[in-house]
Parts: sequence; C-alpha cells; structure tokens
Amino acid sequence: MLSNYLVEYLDFKTCLIGFLLVLLLLDIYSNKSPSNFPPGPWPLPFVGNIFTGVDFKTIDKLAEKYGDVFSLRWGNQKTVVISGHKMVKEALITQPDSFADRPVLPLFHKVYKGLGNNGYLWKNQRKFVIISLRHFGEGKVLELSIQQESIFLCDVFKAEQGPFDPQFFLNAVSNIISALVFGHRFEYHDENFLNILRLDAEAVVLAGFARSQLYNVFPRLFEYLPGPHKTIFDNYAKIIEFMKGEVRKHKEDWDPSNPRDYVDNFLLEMEKKKSDPEAGFNVDTLLIAMLDLFEAGTESAATTMRWGLFFMMKYPEIQKKVQDEIDKVIGQSRQARIADKANMPYTEAVIHEIQRMGNIVPLGFPKMATKDTELGGFFIPKGTAVTTNLSSVLNDKSQWETPDTFNPGHFLDEQGRFLKKEAFLPFSAGRRACVGEQLARMELFLFFTSLLQSFSFSPCPGDELSLEGQMGFTYAPKPFCICVNPR
Ligand code: HEM
Repeated sequence: MLSNYLVEYLDFKTCLIGFLLVLLLLDIYSNKSPSNFPPGPWPLPFVGNIFTGVDFKTIDKLAEKYGDVFSLRWGNQKTVVISGHKMVKEALITQPDSFADRPVLPLFHKVYKGLGNNGYLWKNQRKFVIISLRHFGEGKVLELSIQQESIFLCDVFKAEQGPFDPQFFLNAVSNIISALVFGHRFEYHDENFLNILRLDAEAVVLAGFARSQLYNVFPRLFEYLPGPHKTIFDNYAKIIEFMKGEVRKHKEDWDPSNPRDYVDNFLLEMEKKKSDPEAGFNVDTLLIAMLDLFEAGTESAATTMRWGLFFMMKYPEIQKKVQDEIDKVIGQSRQARIADKANMPYTEAVIHEIQRMGNIVPLGFPKMATKDTELGGFFIPKGTAVTTNLSSVLNDKSQWETPDTFNPGHFLDEQGRFLKKEAFLPFSAGRRACVGEQLARMELFLFFTSLLQSFSFSPCPGDELSLEGQMGFTYAPKPFCICVNPR
C-alpha cells in the first residue's frame, strides 16, 4: 500500500533531492563545531574549504581576516591555524603539552606506515635520536666531518666550467647526516646516491601539489586514482629499499661492543628493548627513522644553503661584507672553525637573515591538540589538527623592523654585536621542535663561510632573481644557475 503510494507520488528526482537533503543534514550535524571554536571561512558541504589554498600566503591573508587563531575544514578534518609571534609562542612555549602530537596525514601515514608519530613510541624514538646525534655528532668529530665535506664541496664548485645549478652539489649536507647515520659519505657523482637524491627531491616538490594534498582529504578515493601521490609513494618505496641495503650491510659486520653509527646503535637498542615492543625498536621503525633523519637532515639544510647563495647573488654588497669579515677573522690560509662564530657577528646575522627570509618550513609540520585546550579565548578540542604558521612569526611586523626586506641588521645591535631574537623560530619550538637544530647551525656556518671564503657568486647574465620561491615539502628558491668566481 505504502510502496504504491510512494511510486505514484515520488518520482526519481524527488527521491534524489530527498536523499541529498538527508546527506546534507548529516554533513552539517557531523561537522558541527563546538561552541567557541575558532572562526573561519564558510565551508562548502561535504568538501569543506578544499578550494581555499593552503599555501602560506593565502593562510596569511585568512589570518588578517579571521584573526591569529582561525579554522579551516578539509573534508571532515578541521584544522586550527595559529599565527603571529604572540599566539605561536603561547601555543608552543607557554602551553608545551597542548599541541605535542601529530595528526594522521594519509600521505605520510602510508609512507611512514603509521609509525613513530605520537605517544610512548615517539617519546622513545625522539629521545634515542637526540642521544645518538649527540654521541656520534659530538663537537669536534662533527666539526671535522663538516670541514672535510666543505673541501669536497669547494672542489666540485671549482671543477665546474661556466654557470651551473648548484642544487645537487648542495646536497653535500646530506653527507653529514649520512656519516652519522650510515657511518660513511657518498661521492657527489655516485649515480646510485644521486638517484636517491633525485627521487627525494621529486617527492618533496610533489608533496606541495594541491592534488597530493587531496589524497590527505579523500585517501580512499585517491588510492585508486592516478596522480602525484602515486609517484611520491613509488619514490619513497625506492628510497626505503636503499635504506634496507644499508641496514643489511651493517648487520653483516655488526659488533655490539663497538657501535660505529646510528644504525649500529639502533641495532643494539633493538636487542636491549626486546622486552618492550611498545617502544618500537624494530627494523621497520629503523627504516622509517632513517628516512626521517635523512629527509629532514638533507632537504632542510640544503634548501637553506640554496637560499643563502641566492641572497648573496642578489645582494652583492652584503656578500662583500661577509667576505671582508671572513678575511679579517679567518683569512685565506685556514678553514673556518665553529669557534670563529663568536668573532663573526655580521656573518652570523646574515645566516640568520637567510633563514628568516628563506622561511623554508612556513607552516611548520602539522600538529594535533593533545588535550582540550584554550587558546586566544577559543576552545580547541583534543584531536583537532593544528598548523603553527611559522612564516607569520618570521615576518611579524611587531617583531621585525623591515620584515619584507633582507636586512642582517635585524640580528645586530648598535655596536654591531650579534643580537638574539625571540621571534626567530625557523626550527619551531616546544616539544616537537627540530631535533637537528644544533647540527644544522654548525653545517650552515661552516659550509657558508667556506664557500664565501673561496668564491664570489654572481647571477648568470640576463637572469632575474625573483624572491618568489616554490612550495613543495619545503619552500625553496626556484631553480637558478650561478656563476662562481674563485677569490
Ligand atoms: C636549516 C635546517 C633545518 C630547519 C629549518 C628545520 C626545521 C624543522 C621544523 C620547523 C620542524 C618541525 C617542528 C614542529 O613541528 O614544531 C623540524 C622537525 C624535525 N627536524 Fe628539522 N630542520 C632543519 C634541519 C634538520 C636536521 C639537520 C635534522 C637531522 C638531524 C632534522 C631533523 C628533524 C626531525 C627528526 C624533526 C621531527 C621532530 C619531531 O617530530 O619530534 N632537522 N625541523
């Protein structure tokens, strides 16, 4: 009786509209924000704000409109964006336990097999990385290894005939982390290793594509569709195969009484922690941890070095002042040492300004509210994804005299002494701050001074040096070619 009635009065179109209305109501209901949740642009039904750009410039504009704590929604996932020095400091430093977790991002979850993000396992792994880096990268040993690598780097620069793109040579920095992790460096022309660097560089750029980000919003759908995410997965699978080879070699001549590097140390920890599987010391985590260190240790420092050469080409008068300081403090007869830093405030200020303007991790790495939290008068429930807009801190008008201009004076006092700045947060801060900060600082100082001690850099004739970078996993300068003149 009822079915006859329905067939008679409800045609297909009406049923469809009714069905969509029900879905819409369910969408509104399931995505309802709790009271006092940060405001944000109006989300479209089902997809939320996926058409709003996620680049840091768009994010900055949204922060101007909605404030230092605002929200966005991608699919069903809500994200709170925190901007400006005051609010980022409050989130990371004043409330260190509020945003110490990482959300599950399907793109990386798949690569990292869901390992090591949060909780007991992450705490154990982070502590182990910090202790190992300290142990194998202790002061003098690390300094020597960077000085040695600087000689190799200067040699390949010298050997280049005419202008060239320095990108892959600057991955020399990866030899420092390689030496710590694998116990050896790689030759710059080693095809196998160059291939790994190329695969990594490609994945890093593709990770910034909007279509790759869509995988994070609709992983089940995009799993079956072609797109850049497939290349990212393929590339990381090949890099992990390469890492497996390194682990295999280490196991062949492993001597537990004499760990040579991070991998040996990890193998030892696997033995020690056999009874505590929750701590995650197994071969899978080792591969992921290696990937993590290699990726973070290569890409970020190498990109900063690229920005460094870029700014030196763009501002030759600043390059000249750095070289004058190098000539005065170090001269031409010996290599730079970490101890020289204390006597080279101008060079230190330039390196800091390169990091500030280079702004290579503009939105930090994604985080998640560890517990129900109040920030800036808003309520952020446990489990909400959080983005800390580091770019807005490095460019905060209330903290920097000329935020849009390359100005080493930001880090110098009136007497020309180096000046620390609270809003200098390229390594982020708090529980999740970069574990490689000390290593990176040493690398940047020693590589940068060695290059400027040996060469002057200028752009290739006719090249325009646009300050506009390109966003991938990091914000990097667009590929450029460089003329190298020995000094
Ligand atoms: C100029 C160089 C570098 C910059 C600008 C940089 C920046 C960052 C930033 C912004 C984060 C995210 C922190 C957060 O989520 O709040 C991070 C995390 C991390 N960095 Fe670096 N980094 C650099 C070099 C390195 C190096 C050389 C290593 C290798 C030892 C490294 C290893 C890591 C690791 C393992 C994490 C994740 C920490 C965690 O989740 O607990 N980084 N880095």
